[in-house]
Amino acid sequence: MSQPRRTETIVRQRYAAGAKERADKLCCPVDYQTEYLEIIPQEVIDRDYGCGDPSRYVREGETVLDLGSGTGKICFIAAQIVGAKGKVIGVDMTDEMLEVARRNAPIVAERIGCSNVEFRKGRIQDLALDLELLDRQLKRNPITDAASFLAADELAEELRVKQPLVATDTIDVVVSNCVLNLVEPKSKRELFDEIFRVLKKGGRAVISDIVSDEEVPEEMQSDPELWSGCISGALTEEGFLHAFEAAGFYGIHILKRDVEPWRTVQGIEFRSVTVEAFKGKQGECFERNQAVIYRGPFKEVLDDDNHRMERGKRYAVCDKTYNLYKKAPYQQFFEFVDPIVDVPLAEAKPFDCSRTSLRHSKETKGRDYDVTTEANNKCCDGGSCC
Ligand SMILES: C[S@@+](CC[C@H](N)C(=O)[O-])C[C@H]1O[C@@H](n2cnc3c(N)ncnc32)[C@H](O)[C@@H]1O
Repeated sequence: MSQPRRTETIVRQRYAAGAKERADKLCCPVDYQTEYLEIIPQEVIDRDYGCGDPSRYVREGETVLDLGSGTGKICFIAAQIVGAKGKVIGVDMTDEMLEVARRNAPIVAERIGCSNVEFRKGRIQDLALDLELLDRQLKRNPITDAASFLAADELAEELRVKQPLVATDTIDVVVSNCVLNLVEPKSKRELFDEIFRVLKKGGRAVISDIVSDEEVPEEMQSDPELWSGCISGALTEEGFLHAFEAAGFYGIHILKRDVEPWRTVQGIEFRSVTVEAFKGKQGECFERNQAVIYRGPFKEVLDDDNHRMERGKRYAVCDKTYNLYKKAPYQQFFEFVDPIVDVPLAEAKPFDCSRTSLRHSKETKGRDYDVTTEANNKCCDGGSCC
């Protein structure tokens, strides 16, 4: 297999050329929402090397981070959706891509009436290191020997902590369009960890990328043309979803999967998928006497915290799980049962989330509950039922 450094250099060189002139081989046709393309300069649209459209899932007011922003198309679309109250940050490692994106940013800002996009130079597997800051420092203290090399390494570490390119817990949604596959295998774990780090609790990642339907063999991985062309570095469909899980995400699901492969190489199909994954399942578990009922349609489900639930049964859940289930992507699948007597969070006892247990309705109502009522006029959608 080729050396990681060589892989990254080849990727940078190929996309540096792709920033100057459109490279058709790097394109996978995508239907963007045309109303957002109207104000984007033609050279940005022409140098489009995406394979999906994560910008469709961005919302007004959000802070968005686009990994491998290229000439800036996804950032410029997202800028129009998030509006003046939101913010968009594009990160790319290739100077030529950043040059095109930065040159066009003021044009887009003028057309949309607000300046809410900026482009930063960094490697997406190391989102703490600001490469332009490092560059400036190294100009003052160039690397000339082993000692200055080690000092530069220390300096990089200091910059990561004191002036991070993207700070921890600051982003509402991380998007990316056809870039994660370009990161060398040894850094893929770091890459997903970095996405997780920069997201706020409750934030999400929406990533479009090329995946394969079989493992990519070693000889294909060492082909630089295939690598930089978004083929050899592709994770399998299963591996892609698993990478989010391993980084601590929950609620991971496929938003879009192209039925037709983009390319087939030696019988292996490469296609575009868009996946959404959420951050926020970590934290303490408290007992507030709540219960949930899985609505179906499957006989049972298993969530990312190993809660296994059968359709129609009432389960005891901690306050954290209860609140996670009330939000996307889960809320449509559950019914929620609040206790009749509220347990304030400040008084709640720890809840053992390592096992899933059923909760009898007497627990949420209270053991002594023995009320008898007349028919409730509010039932049956306001009709006069029963
Ligand atoms: C296939 S292009 C996609 C560009 C853009 N997302 C789009 O939709 O047109 C890949 C981009 O990712 C950048 N890139 C590749 N690997 C990167 C890395 N490890 N860190 C930062 N940028 C990277 C390249 O410079 C290039 O601009």
